[in-house]
Amino acid sequence: MSNSAEINYGGKTYKLPVIVGTENEAAMDISKLRDESGLITLDIGYKNTGATKSAIAFIDGDEGILRYRGYPIEQLAEHSSFMEVSYLLIYGELPTATQLEWFNNSITRRTLVHENIKKFLDAYPGGTHPMGVLMSTIASLSSFYPNSLNPNRSPEEVDRTIHRLIAKMATIAAWTYKKSMGHPYMYPNNKYDYVSNFLQMMFGHRTEEYVPDPVVVDALNKLLILHADHEQNCSTSTVRIVGSSHANIYAAVSAGIGALWGPLHGGANQAVIEMLEQIKADGGDAMKYINKAKDKNDPFRLMGFGHRVYKNFDPRAKIIKQACDQVLNRLGINDPILDIAKQLEEAALSDPYFVERKLYPNVDFYSGIIYRAIGIPTDMFTVMFALGRLPGWIAQWKEMREGNEPIGRPRQVYIGHPKRDYTPITKR
Ligand code: SDX
Repeated sequence: MSNSAEINYGGKTYKLPVIVGTENEAAMDISKLRDESGLITLDIGYKNTGATKSAIAFIDGDEGILRYRGYPIEQLAEHSSFMEVSYLLIYGELPTATQLEWFNNSITRRTLVHENIKKFLDAYPGGTHPMGVLMSTIASLSSFYPNSLNPNRSPEEVDRTIHRLIAKMATIAAWTYKKSMGHPYMYPNNKYDYVSNFLQMMFGHRTEEYVPDPVVVDALNKLLILHADHEQNCSTSTVRIVGSSHANIYAAVSAGIGALWGPLHGGANQAVIEMLEQIKADGGDAMKYINKAKDKNDPFRLMGFGHRVYKNFDPRAKIIKQACDQVLNRLGINDPILDIAKQLEEAALSDPYFVERKLYPNVDFYSGIIYRAIGIPTDMFTVMFALGRLPGWIAQWKEMREGNEPIGRPRQVYIGHPKRDYTPITKR
């Protein structure tokens, strides 16, 4: 394979180096293109543009492959835990027992939040979307931990800042839910592991000992693992570009939460359930909605379908779909919207519109059905996505900082007015 590419422009030929990744992905390095040729590139939505070199996640969209630090997602979902995968993503290797104990202890001891956080939660009106609360509260952590404002501190200080973020995001997410329900807050309890602690803060009550259901703990571990990283997606790219200005990690992750909120991204898991509920309320006619999704004059999209990178099945959706049946069976739940989801998938995957556009179920298509089965309300689904994606955001931010990447500042092609002179209002 050639290690360079040529561009012919203005009667000249420009040779550009080609770099090849571990899995033989080739990229034309255009970092000197503008200086040498005056050309920039244009790629709205960055559909074909690599923003960085990364060693964290690998996706093969055609083969439906996702690996974290080289480990297939199927193996991690089956055998690992969310804490172990978080360590893997952030520090690059699966931890030894001693390393995992250090990581778990450091996070467990930081799950309490400043009591003033309650004042934040009290200040929001009823019905506030929890993603807005999460985004603002995470950004405010830098006020309580001013040392985090300088991301260039010692590795020990960075570790403390990272572990605080993982620990406190779970507490804040659970308290946001408790506040929305009018229930008293449940404080973190160090006897529980990370996932069980989150569940007890969500669903525990002061009147009785919370006993985590192993089926639910296992399902949530699996879901959080499957959401933990996904290379340069919209929210991760947001975290990296905000972090590239040397803003603190709390600000960068808060921005990532904002990007994830969108219904085209992490907000899709909430939109999927709302769509399935709409179809159920409208008589459960899957084909009617398949046709709406195909109609260019109809703004309706089949939420949870399609992906910028996966042009085959999303491996996460495959695992979550299997887990759906297992969790609902083991919890004795028969949710009619799961049947509607399966009808939609079957109808879409045999329809030329979806086949030609390579639109398959993505990670968001089935995840909400499991969240719902374990009692998580729909407007908390994207908060769950954020909780899962947090170690990935942290790992990507850390890689960007340790790589001393420059501040992100894309170019543009200007298509506005040529120079013109100001005219006083009396002459307009
Ligand atoms: C996530 O990037 C990541 O990795 C994200 C993520 C992660 O882990 O971080 O995987 C998580 O965000 C998953 C995606 C969740 N979003 C949704 O489920 C929303 C519904 N899906 C779409 O809006 C869409 O598929 C995107 C946003 C996911 C991808 O959009 P692209 O790559 O920009 O593709 P596109 O919008 O240009 O669509 C290409 C064609 C268009 O038709 P034509 O103009 O060619 O005729 O496919 C059509 C689109 O109209 N299309 C759909 C569709 N998705 C795309 N038509 C109906 N229903 C859909 N869901």
